[in-house]
Amino acid sequence: MSSVAVLTSGGDAPGMNAAIQAIVRVAASQGLDVAGVLDGYDGLIDGTSRPLTQRTEDGLIVPVPDVDSAGPLGGTILGSSRCPRFHEPEYRAQAAEHLRSLDAIGLIVIGGNGSIAGAHAIANEMEIPVVGIPASIDNDIGLTREALGVDTALNTIVEACDRISDTARSHRRAFIVEVMGRDSGYLAMAAAAATAADAVLLPEVSKSFDETVDAVAECIRDSLSASRKKRRTLVIKAEGVGIPTHMLVDEVEAQLEDIDNLEVRGTVLGHLVRGGNSSFRDR
Ligand code: F6P
Repeated sequence: MSSVAVLTSGGDAPGMNAAIQAIVRVAASQGLDVAGVLDGYDGLIDGTSRPLTQRTEDGLIVPVPDVDSAGPLGGTILGSSRCPRFHEPEYRAQAAEHLRSLDAIGLIVIGGNGSIAGAHAIANEMEIPVVGIPASIDNDIGLTREALGVDTALNTIVEACDRISDTARSHRRAFIVEVMGRDSGYLAMAAAAATAADAVLLPEVSKSFDETVDAVAECIRDSLSASRKKRRTLVIKAEGVGIPTHMLVDEVEAQLEDIDNLEVRGTVLGHLVRGGNSSFRDR
């Protein structure tokens, strides 16, 4: 009986489970079984997988129960990994062996740019069709307008910034909020637009340490000036900007010590942004 294999790889992203569910539902409706490879390329190398389809008494192919309920959930029910071994041809050959033993007519890889590059290597080295589904909150995959996970991550960031803005306004404080994105400033840029942030720091705009501190200090000074009197100052910083957020907070405070009652706070949203039920768009 024909089957397709699916795996999730790299940093998990909301929407991966919705993609798995959609793949299984469509495959089952076409009379195909689906094998879920566990823990990304590690599972392909080590030969660990589980069936994502089952048979009814009438012989129909249907999704297994956890696939039926996985659609909204963040993370990935198949598990994921970053797999340095996959860069080495001998391990890719081992993975090819396991893929053959699954008797799969095709492989679907759900993941970010490294994972899609791995999918490309398999497609070049094996006689098997491979489909890559871009999924990464970083939104850094070539020729992809918006990867799975980006919409949910942005909604989480925007909600977090709205909450931070509530407390910032109450105390007339400045906040520097760091968001994930690896070397990409996309999440920071989009979130800054949506939250009407006062400034955004992006790795794509290269500034020295001193220039960055000066720019943030100037922004806060302007925001608190008698002519502006803003109660909230929000600076969104992409993680790819190579200054630790706590250090930036300290340096900016030191530069603005002439301002009475100045309070600058830093919040690193970190992995919080990667979890959570997927949004309508990511599903
Ligand atoms: O690629 C997704 C991502 O969340 C990046 O934004 C971040 O830099 C990285 O993964 C974090 O990786 P890890 O979960 O391995 O710490």
